[in-house]
Amino acid sequence: MSGYPEYMQGLLKLVEETRPDRVGKALRAMNAEEKEQILRDWHPDYKMDQKRKLKIGSSAGELMPHEVADTLEAHPVIKPGDIDLSNVVYDVDVLVIGAGGAGLSASLTAIEHGVAPDNVLMIQKLRLGDANSKMSQGGIQAADAPDDNPTIHYLDVIGGGHYANKPDLVEAMVKEGPDVIKWHEELGVTYDKLEDGTMQLAPGGGTSRKRMHSCKDYTGLEITRVLVDEFINKEISYVEFTSAVELVMDDKGQVAGAVLWDMDHDDYTVARAKSTILATGGFGRLHIQGFETTNHYGATNDGVVMAYHVGANLRDLDSTQFHPTGAAYPAQIVGQLCTEKLRARGAQPLNNDGVLFVYPLETRDVEASALIRECYGREKGIVTPTGMRGVWLDTPLIDVINGEGTIEREFAAMFRTFNKFGIDIREEPMLVYPTLHYQNGGVEINVQCETNVPGLYAAGEVCGGIHGKNRLMGNSQLDLYVFGRRAGRFSAERAKTATLGDLTLDHLDVYEKMLADAGVVTDRKAPTLLPEYRGKRTLEHQLKML
Ligand code: FUM
Repeated sequence: MSGYPEYMQGLLKLVEETRPDRVGKALRAMNAEEKEQILRDWHPDYKMDQKRKLKIGSSAGELMPHEVADTLEAHPVIKPGDIDLSNVVYDVDVLVIGAGGAGLSASLTAIEHGVAPDNVLMIQKLRLGDANSKMSQGGIQAADAPDDNPTIHYLDVIGGGHYANKPDLVEAMVKEGPDVIKWHEELGVTYDKLEDGTMQLAPGGGTSRKRMHSCKDYTGLEITRVLVDEFINKEISYVEFTSAVELVMDDKGQVAGAVLWDMDHDDYTVARAKSTILATGGFGRLHIQGFETTNHYGATNDGVVMAYHVGANLRDLDSTQFHPTGAAYPAQIVGQLCTEKLRARGAQPLNNDGVLFVYPLETRDVEASALIRECYGREKGIVTPTGMRGVWLDTPLIDVINGEGTIEREFAAMFRTFNKFGIDIREEPMLVYPTLHYQNGGVEINVQCETNVPGLYAAGEVCGGIHGKNRLMGNSQLDLYVFGRRAGRFSAERAKTATLGDLTLDHLDVYEKMLADAGVVTDRKAPTLLPEYRGKRTLEHQLKML
């Protein structure tokens, strides 16, 4: 029995009819002009009424989504007088804010570089390992195959990012990719292998080689499992259910730790640190333009906000990544990730006539635009019972092309998820629509993960510059570990010689003055910490936007 309502089952017959003719056939990829055109016409980034120029700080005048600007043009959640800065409960060399892939690898590397495990403190607003990193499905790129090398990887990243990437960051990432995979394997990550023991590699949108290393379709979960085990084994200090709400500075102009809010007891304390690493992840839960999201519940742009309050430079926040294939049906899982690896293994996006309308492995921005155009430009989407539109992702082709059992073996998590709703993805396609997946921009760093503010480091999705204006699949998993490890190493080195002065929160008064001088009148406060859903109907909002 199908999990789709009857009218959708009728449309599925068209998919079955066209399937035999589609096996082994691909649509050609778009040329440069076609890509530019479709992005301009259909990508949400190009909707200028959905953005505004920021009014304050070093990024004043830069365009960004209203939702992001709202968090920066907001009052800090605390005032300097509210906090007793002598209440230093934690006094450490390295403070790590965020417990995903970047935070875990930064902590592990800091202790390799001489910081004692109890002199590193990780702060996590939910539980250890709760982050987007853990939710990654399809894989991690690294140029370690005989037909590949970091130079080819570099060209793919820069091209995918529309040449807006910071070249030295890309260079660091691609060169260290193979070493990250080795490090993971040494710690115990079980990557998928072929019978001869070599890595099973897949392509991704915009990659010119098969370079995606995967652990079935729960790559992030497996890597996080191993890193969390290692973190616990090394007895590194950590605190859960505690948010950093502001960075603390000292009278020498350095970042010197953070104000922490114990969410269980509604209590503020201070962590003093010689080096502070922001590893707070992204902003998916801001639901840019009302889009659903693949993101973790804590992805509310906190790191960018706290960094901006102390004067850190930001970049590329005008650009947001919409993953082409979020679930569009059933309603319970709308917006959840349906990995790009499905297309890498042969699944095709089809319209309501069962017709393939786009090359399945365009870069994400182009692929997402093509799906939006099919649904709202060509009116060829499938309308769900809740009024959402989507296109089919013909997953049964995966077993047709690669052999029976491939879906169950390689997409074990996805198979189970859809099965719960009566949809057997070996027999029936998924219904998909773009979903907010990643913040391409963020806090500017150099190759040592330093920001422009002394004492403040950043790694992972909170950073901008690595992926330019569009990230390719699997490069975020890679950047987490490359730059997480770099942040750990360089922050540990700094902590050996840094000396701190008197702690201060005066920068919050400066920020308030900037808001007032710019005429910003608002009752908004940020960092947001957790999303507020009461009264919000994201799908309804999204439909209004189109
Ligand atoms: O499609 C995916 O599995 C997502 C991967 C990524 O964002 O890198």
